[in-house]
Amino acid sequence: MSAPPFASVEELESSLRAHSYLPDRGLAVAIYLAVSLDRPLLLEGEAGVGKTEVAKVLAEMTGRKLIRLQCYEGIDSNQALYDWDYSRQLVAIRAAQAEGKPIDDLFGGAFLVERPLLDAIRTGPGAVLLIDELDRADDEFEAFLLEVLSDFAVTIPEIGRIAATKPPAVVITSNRTRELHDALKRRCLYHWIDHPSLEREVAIIRTRAPGVRESLAREVATAVERLRTLEVAKRPGVAETIDWANALSFLGADKLESETALETLGAVVKDHEDQQVVTAHLQEVLGDDSA
Ligand SMILES: Nc1ncnc2c1ncn2[C@@H]1O[C@H](COP(=O)(O)OP(=O)(O)O)[C@@H](O)[C@H]1O
Ligand SMILES: [Mg+2]
Repeated sequence: MSAPPFASVEELESSLRAHSYLPDRGLAVAIYLAVSLDRPLLLEGEAGVGKTEVAKVLAEMTGRKLIRLQCYEGIDSNQALYDWDYSRQLVAIRAAQAEGKPIDDLFGGAFLVERPLLDAIRTGPGAVLLIDELDRADDEFEAFLLEVLSDFAVTIPEIGRIAATKPPAVVITSNRTRELHDALKRRCLYHWIDHPSLEREVAIIRTRAPGVRESLAREVATAVERLRTLEVAKRPGVAETIDWANALSFLGADKLESETALETLGAVVKDHEDQQVVTAHLQEVLGDDSA
């Protein structure tokens, strides 16, 4: 077995920080174990808590290629693993017919379209495979994926077996719009990512939007934390917090006040009904009892 990519949780954590990702301890331990033990990491949590970013940063940190499989309703193995380039096959057939020659190897490597999973199998340990938003795919696809994850090999009838020398690092994310199956979970290490604590969110704003002053960052993070406790359909994620802080800072605001808060609400709350809820509770969100 080759040496694990990080000597300790602390080393991994400081590398994440150096790449502008501020994890909590539990997440750092989960990532450390997953990469050291070669296990897929399943990350669940609400939208915007930093799940997808883990895979991106991990690829950057380790110099591996990020291969992203974005899941959606109806995705199947033709979109995930490999497919044949039918239009090029057709051109080849026509050309062969025109020249009166026999048709070339129609199901050979030249006409194979590599999709993310095949790319990951071929790249092996040089890749971080991100299987993003798996909860959007259906059960059947999840079962298929489980097979791929268990041996990182594929047999293409016309070509033969292609197997990874060593598995890639795998990060699976889910927004938990449905439960994933136990069989899949059994293969993975699991971590639930919550919205960050106030202090961490302030630090994240300072890292990702260095132009924003500390006091404004703190006011914005505090307001977003309160906003998340309201009855809104979509609670703002970290990206929205950063956007809001950036927007306010760009407009020259050095404090979060009702007027500017309302004017810039579209940076943080992106739903009409939710905006109405927040507007109705604005003083509560801003922590201003004087009004
Ligand atoms: N712990 C964190 N440290 C630094 N930035 C973060 C963190 N969590 C979230 N972010 C920021 O929030 C953005 C959205 O995160 P993302 O990974 O897309 O969320 P998710 O996949 O959970 O919906 C990221 O691009 C990043 O800028
Ligand atoms: Mg995501």
